[in-house]
Amino acid sequence: MREAEKPNDNSATSYEPPRGAYFWLAGIFAIVFAVIYITLVLFVHFVSPGKGIFGMNDTEAYTLYVFVFAFFLVALYVYMVVSRKELLFSLKRAGALMAIFTFVVVVNIVVVAFNPYLICVALTSMLVLPFSKRSDAFVLNAFSCWISSFVLIATLDYSQFPAVAFTLLAGMICGAVATYSFPSDMTRAVSVLRSFVTGVVTLLVYGVLLSTYKLDFKPFFDNVMYIGFSVAGELLLTAVIEPIIEWIFNLTSDYKLMELTNHKAPLIRRLSTEAPGTFNHCLAVANFAEICADAIGEDTYLARACAYYHDVGKLNNVEYFTENQAGYNPHDEILPEVSAEIIRKHTVDGYELCKKYRIPEEVARVTIEHHGTLPIMYFFNKAKSLTDGDVDMDEYRYYGEIPTGKIGAIIMICDSAEAAIRAMDNPTGEKVDKLLRGMIDERLKLGQFDNCEITMKDLTAIREAIVGAFGGLFHKRIKYNIGRGGINV
Ligand SMILES: [Fe+2]
Ligand SMILES: [Fe+2]
Repeated sequence: MREAEKPNDNSATSYEPPRGAYFWLAGIFAIVFAVIYITLVLFVHFVSPGKGIFGMNDTEAYTLYVFVFAFFLVALYVYMVVSRKELLFSLKRAGALMAIFTFVVVVNIVVVAFNPYLICVALTSMLVLPFSKRSDAFVLNAFSCWISSFVLIATLDYSQFPAVAFTLLAGMICGAVATYSFPSDMTRAVSVLRSFVTGVVTLLVYGVLLSTYKLDFKPFFDNVMYIGFSVAGELLLTAVIEPIIEWIFNLTSDYKLMELTNHKAPLIRRLSTEAPGTFNHCLAVANFAEICADAIGEDTYLARACAYYHDVGKLNNVEYFTENQAGYNPHDEILPEVSAEIIRKHTVDGYELCKKYRIPEEVARVTIEHHGTLPIMYFFNKAKSLTDGDVDMDEYRYYGEIPTGKIGAIIMICDSAEAAIRAMDNPTGEKVDKLLRGMIDERLKLGQFDNCEITMKDLTAIREAIVGAFGGLFHKRIKYNIGRGGINV
C-alpha cells in the first residue's frame, strides 16, 4: 500500500443525521405549536370572544385547536424527516423554515381580525424560496394556508364560507404559481413579477370560486381591495423579513450568495488587492464550479460563492503561494516541514477568517474541506529526499476534513483541475480527460468523497463538464502578424 493510500481518521462514512437531530427538530416543532396555539387562543379571547366553533364552549374549542394543530404539525414533521432528511443535518435551516412558517401563520391570525381576504396565501412560498427547495416552499405554503383556513373557521361565522374556501384554494394554487412559475434566479425583477402574477391568479381564483357557487359578485368588488392589500403586503413583508431571517440564522439565500460574490464584498476585496494571483485562481475555479454544479443539479450560486472563498486562508501568508510569486520563492530558504505547515494551514486559517467576516457556514466549510485530508506531495517528497525517507506523511496532510456535500466535492475537483490544466503546455480534451480521471480516481481511493453523497454518475458529469468547458475558460493568446514586424495582441 502506498503511503498516500493509508486510511485516515477523518474519513467518516455515515450518512445518518447527527445524534439527537430528530429530537431537536421535534423541539422546534413544539415551539412552533406553542407560538401558534397561544396566538390563536389570545386572538379568540380578545378579538372574537364567545364565537366558539361548531357550537362548542371555550374549553372544547381550545382542545380542538390542540388536536388540529398537532395533526398538521405532525404531518409536516413526517414530511421533513422522510422527504427532507437533509434538513436534519442543518437544523438551523429547518429552524429558519419553521420560523417563516410560524411568522406567516401568526400574521394571518392577526390580519383575520380586519378582513379574511387579507390572509397571505403565498407569503410562505415567497419567503421560503430563497432559502430552500421549491418542494419545501410549496409544502410549507400549503400547510400554512390549511392552518389559516382553520383559524378562519375558528374565528368567523359560517357566512364566511367563501373566505375559507378561498384561503384553501388560493393557498394551493397561488402557492404553486409563486413556487413553480418562475426560474429559480432570485433577481429583484423576478420577485416583483412573481408577486404580480400571484396577485392576478389570487383574484382569478376568487372570481372562479364565486361564479362556481353562483354567489353574489358584489362582495368580489368589495374584497378586491383587501386582496390587493394582501398581495402588496406579501411583497413588502418578503423584502423586509427575508434579510432578517438571513441575518438571524446566518443562512445563504440566493440574494446573500450574490452579495458574497460581489467584488466589493470585504473579504473578496482583500483577496483581489492583497493576493491578486489567488483571486484570479478563485475566479477560474468559480467558472468551473458553476458549470459542474449545473451539470449535477446543484446550486450554482452556492458553488460560485464557495469557489470565491475557498482559498481566503492564503491571505495570512500570501507570498508563500505560487500564484502570488513573481520570481522569488520564499520556500527555497526554509525547511520543507515549515513550508508544509504554512501551506496546510491555509484551510483552517480560511475558516477562521470566514467566521470573522460572518460568512455563512455552508460557504465557510468549503475552506476546510477543499483539500480534504490529502498530503502535500511536493514537500513530502522534498522532506524525504533530505532525510533518507524517514518522514511521517500525516505531518504533510492538509489540516481539514473531507467534503460533506456535493459542492465541497465539486470545489475539491475544480480547484486541483484548474491548477493542473493551467500548468499544461498544450491542453487538449483528451489530455484533460485523462488528467481528471486520474485525479478523481486518486481522491476516491483516498476516501476523500466518503462523507458526501456524490455518485459515480455525478463524478462522470463533473469530468465531462470540465472537459467540455476548459477550452472556453482558458483563452490562449493567438498571434496575429500585422505589417512587417508583427504585433502580438
Ligand atoms: Fe487551497
Ligand atoms: Fe485553490
